[in-house]
Amino acid sequence: MKGMFIVMEGPDGSGKSTQIELLKEYLNETGRECVITREPGGTVIGEAVRSIILNPEYEEMSDVTEMLLYAASRAQLMAEVIVPALKAGKVVISDRFVDSSIVYQGIARGLGMDTVAAVNQPGIGENRPDCIFFIDISEEEGLRRKKEQKNLDRMEQESIDFHAMVSRGYREVLAGREEVVYIDGSDSVENIRKKIQEEVQKRIADEGKKEPGVKMDRP
Ligand code: ADP
Ligand code: TYD
Repeated sequence: MKGMFIVMEGPDGSGKSTQIELLKEYLNETGRECVITREPGGTVIGEAVRSIILNPEYEEMSDVTEMLLYAASRAQLMAEVIVPALKAGKVVISDRFVDSSIVYQGIARGLGMDTVAAVNQPGIGENRPDCIFFIDISEEEGLRRKKEQKNLDRMEQESIDFHAMVSRGYREVLAGREEVVYIDGSDSVENIRKKIQEEVQKRIADEGKKEPGVKMDRP
């Protein structure tokens, strides 16, 4: 059985973690083995990097340092978790992937999409998600939900203008791509769950006909 690489993308508070839990429950019921992971993080090294990147005390962090730390966490996750799981035929569901860096660091921080793509290239190689669920939500609603849920981390504490650039950036970067499924994040948890489940069901039914998600031995 081929592996399947699914990514959830969207602004902070769009509902990614909520939907990943629901999708995991569904896949477990069908008996399909799945691996859930998150960015930054997902490995011991990646979680250590996460605690640096998101710590609100590190106000002095430069934008380039931030971009490199996200790329470092991702490279480790690819090598240690994602590539081996796909090779073993599992479904990998990742809370964010390289498009988060393209949008947050490339567009919202202004480092440029090409620069961010180039920095991430050695870590991800030719591996690409089979399917990206883009949960679209306004910056106001996303941040409102986050504030209700927990203390805001270093990125969430950025200005509303920064988060508006993130919301616009996602629409620009993900629009029209064949692997992207658009989800209206203002819809109910249950309606979103159904839509995601139907799309995954379709892809599992079709998976025998497609190229594998893993194309290189090493990232
Ligand atoms: P993310 O992982 O994208 O940051 P979460 O899944 O943690 O988002 O959701 C952020 C908050 O919004 C949580 O309190 C969650 O219960 C709530 N939430 C998630 N999806 C919805 C939805 N469709 N409608 C209303 N609230 C939602
Ligand atoms: P996330 O774990 O989704 O935050 P939360 O658990 O609070 O919903 O993501 C952490 C933050 O890092 C989020 O604000 C988005 C940001 N981020 C980037 O700026 N670039 C990246 O490459 C990634 C993966 C995340």
